[in-house]
Amino acid sequence: MKINITLNGEKKVFNANYDDYLIDVLRKNGYLGVKKGCDTGSCGACSVHMDGKVVLSCATLACRADGHEITTIEGVQNEATKIAKYFANEGVEQCGFCSPGTVMSILYLEKCIENPTDEEILHYLNGNLCRCSGYQGQLRAIRMYLEAKQDEKS
Ligand code: FES
Repeated sequence: MKINITLNGEKKVFNANYDDYLIDVLRKNGYLGVKKGCDTGSCGACSVHMDGKVVLSCATLACRADGHEITTIEGVQNEATKIAKYFANEGVEQCGFCSPGTVMSILYLEKCIENPTDEEILHYLNGNLCRCSGYQGQLRAIRMYLEAKQDEKS
C-alpha cells in the first residue's frame, strides 16, 4: 500500500505493508535518527511527532500515519543542536541512544507548558528511558535549556 505522509515538512509517499510499523518504514527510508530500542513501546527511543504530539513509532502502524504530519529528529536539527549543548555541558550524553526520542519529548513539553516545574518535566520525560541513567543531568540540562529559551523571549 502507499502511505502519504508530510514528513519533516515535505510531502512523501512510501510503500508499506499493512502490518508495517512506522519506525520500520522511516528507518528503511533513511530516517535513522529514529532509534529502535525495545521495539515494544516501552523505552521511548523511537519517539516522533504525529500532528505535533509524541507517538511511539514502534507502536504505530505505518498506515495510521497516512495523511498525517510526522516529524522526526531529522526535522528539528536546530533545536536538537541547542539541546545537545546543554546535555554536553551537564555530562548527560553517554551512549546518546535515547537522545533523539528524548529531544522529541522535550520539544513537545516546550509546546505544552511554558514554565514547567521539575515534576512536570519528569512527567513529560517519563516515557523516555536512558540506559546510562543520566536522569539527574538530563533534568538540569532541560531546566537550563528552557530557562534560556524564556530569557530569549523576554
Ligand atoms: Fe519504541 Fe522502545 S523502540 S518504545
